[in-house]
Amino acid sequence: MLTENMIDALNEHMNKEMYSAYLYMSMSAYSDSAGLKGFANWFMVQYHEEMFHAMKVFEYIQAQGGRVKLLQLDEPPSDWESPLDRELGGRPAGVPLDYARGVKSASEGD
Ligand SMILES: [Fe+2]
Repeated sequence: MLTENMIDALNEHMNKEMYSAYLYMSMSAYSDSAGLKGFANWFMVQYHEEMFHAMKVFEYIQAQGGRVKLLQLDEPPSDWESPLDRELGGRPAGVPLDYARGVKSASEGD
């Protein structure tokens, strides 16, 4: 059984996964508009992977009898300096920290 703290951590983690998906979607849109169809496709593949992760958390919360709460998504950047922009090629930040929070919460039993 999940505690309320664990459910909160999982809901927040799901939000991070969905933000990552949203950011990759924005990167795909930028790349497409720059004529970089291969980049656009690659970012869209990443979008689907992040949504898959979000849905795994969604299904897990429900399977454990918890209540999924969808949180507001931040607006991702929509423009980059160039396709070589370091941020454009980087992994969305924040997700590993939430894995750590969930593990800590579970191990402390709170
Ligand atoms: Fe992910």
